Amino acid sequence: MAHHLILVGPPGAGKGTQAKILEKNLGLEQISTGEMLRARAKQDDDFGREIAGIMSSGQFVTDDHMIRMLAEKLQHPDTDNGFILDGFPRTQAQAEALEPILVELGKELDCVIELTVDESALVERITGRLMCSSCGASFHKTFSPPQQDGVCDLCSGALKTRSDDTAETVVKRLKDYHQKTEPVLAYYQKKGLVKQVDGMQDVAHVTASVMEKLGAW
Ligand code: AP5
Repeated sequence: MAHHLILVGPPGAGKGTQAKILEKNLGLEQISTGEMLRARAKQDDDFGREIAGIMSSGQFVTDDHMIRMLAEKLQHPDTDNGFILDGFPRTQAQAEALEPILVELGKELDCVIELTVDESALVERITGRLMCSSCGASFHKTFSPPQQDGVCDLCSGALKTRSDDTAETVVKRLKDYHQKTEPVLAYYQKKGLVKQVDGMQDVAHVTASVMEKLGAW
């Protein structure tokens, strides 16, 4: 049976890291709106430049655009075996818009995992993050360094710092998380879908806790 999961948490909570592991372990498709936008921002046209500007200043891309982008992605056969949403919905409007999209596709959400992490740890995680410019794999200067400096272990691509991973931008992103994304958690709590996982544990223990919350998947 296909499963449909949402990962919610502040910037740096480990959503992308866990989504990639769960994709492999559970055969679900990771849908990262951040990755989709970063790929679009690489295109050297007006829209690509607009997205790059919005992201590097730590703001949200408009709900209309994100909802359209996600609706298109969910129609793709890659998601037929189930999916993990990473970075969407990020506002209540996005959460409300997701419902009719799923109904039309005959799909239902099974669970919303909230990763909780202390704010001081988030800043350290984000400012130490290194991202592969080729495959998008994520490393950390201290917590999960690559075997060779500046080189991705998985595809040998160049590791870079994300343009939005500065201490100043993190403050803005965290503020937006509290104001705009936390209401999404309240929305799903009313539906009884939210399960909290302690994201302060190391990566393997976070995965084990998520798997425990998912039960017999
Ligand atoms: P997005 O890419 O989704 O960024 P984010 O939500 O800010 O989350 P991050 O990618 O920063 O963190 P993460 O939780 O995935 O942590 P990670 O696993 O990498 O979005 C980027 C931007 O795109 C947004 O700001 C916005 O502009 C736009 N956008 C995207 N979706 C949108 C939407 N729906 N609507 C509007 N705009 C949208 O881990 C972080 C670091 O910590 C890594 O170095 C990792 O190695 C390390 N780490 C992970 N887990 C652990 C652990 N357990 N212990 C120690 N270190 C760890």
